[in-house]
Amino acid sequence: MHIPVLTIDGPSGAGKGTVSRLAAKKLGWNYLDSGSIYRSLAIALQKTSVDFENVSEIVKVAQAMTLEFDCGDELIVKLDGEDITSQLGFESTGSIASQIAALPDVRRVLLQKQRDFRQAPGLVADGRDMGTVVFPDADNKVFLTASAAKRAERRYKQLMEKEIDANLAQITNEIDVRDRRDRERETAPLAMASDALYIDSSDMTIDAVIEEVLNLIR
Ligand code: C5P
Repeated sequence: MHIPVLTIDGPSGAGKGTVSRLAAKKLGWNYLDSGSIYRSLAIALQKTSVDFENVSEIVKVAQAMTLEFDCGDELIVKLDGEDITSQLGFESTGSIASQIAALPDVRRVLLQKQRDFRQAPGLVADGRDMGTVVFPDADNKVFLTASAAKRAERRYKQLMEKEIDANLAQITNEIDVRDRRDRERETAPLAMASDALYIDSSDMTIDAVIEEVLNLIR
């Protein structure tokens, strides 16, 4: 049976998470926040003494970790039975995630974990390589972006809402470093799939973006 997939890729702070979660809700489909898998591995590694340069040990941790996702109104993630949701959003977690995400062996181990989310009646998947590597046969693909200033501002607001201490200048810099690393890595870099719809959300409301995304499916 064919299970449809909608992929939404783009840099951090483009609004992928919010748009994907709401689109999945409207469609009644499953939702994959692939960044949370890399972030979970970052948290798993912080609990060990594994050096971030030691690829074979990182791969072992990635293979051994068990993740449970509860995709209700808010995404809840459990790592080996422990609720790690509150630690996922830290920019420091995102930064470690982006360093280990550049390792081809790590990406290979996490590939199947992501493909397992493709369950009926459909899947909305958000990340950096959803349309290019993980689900190249996806029925619909979107590349969602926004200006660097808007993306930093949105990330800052998101962190404030979660009561995570943040500083706009520091966030702007951290996002810039992370996006550059994600774009320039050799394996599965952040890139627009040739068959994706490009949306610049800088001056759009979330509702307008969702409308455009859902129009693609209709
Ligand atoms: O999307 P999010 O900010 O949670 O992702 C955290 C990091 O995980 C990204 O900066 C990126 O390095 C990595 N990632 C990735 N491929 C994905 C999703 C996330 O490399 N599909």
